[in-house]
Amino acid sequence: MTRVLFVCLGNICRSPTAEGVLRHMMDAMPDAPEVEIDSAGTGGWHVGNPPDPRAIEAAARRGIDLSALRVRQVTAADFDAFDYVLAMDRDNLRNLKALRPAQGGAALKLLLEFGEGGEVPDPYYGGEAGFDRAYALIEGACRGLIREIQARE
Ligand code: 4NP
Repeated sequence: MTRVLFVCLGNICRSPTAEGVLRHMMDAMPDAPEVEIDSAGTGGWHVGNPPDPRAIEAAARRGIDLSALRVRQVTAADFDAFDYVLAMDRDNLRNLKALRPAQGGAALKLLLEFGEGGEVPDPYYGGEAGFDRAYALIEGACRGLIREIQARE
């Protein structure tokens, strides 16, 4: 069993997209490894809310339903509850490093280490194109992440 937590700032755009994309890919895989998937935000402004409607729409265009997801804030305990804590950008990564307990077991990385490198830009203040770009980056990295998960099973 591999446990993966995706983290962004608000948990309404990028990390719920990653949660939905990875779950969708795993569901479509014959003999998929067992994976627990969740997402959270470093900020708490949107706790309890569903994802941003633009993220829901971008995912729905690819047949993925994010509408049942609800925002939660990341906690120090998540570093014990998950094997991978994957940040969308370097700001998220810095905040997560500050939160991580000394004995925190999870591997803490940028998600795009499994994709094309760098960061998933925050699409919140832009238009639809930013959500499509975020989706494409996340999808590519999830393919790499699945290879990593398969290698450790
Ligand atoms: P996310 O995007 O981190 O991908 O969920 C954002 C969502 C909300 C805010 C910023 C980024 N905000 O400032 O409320």
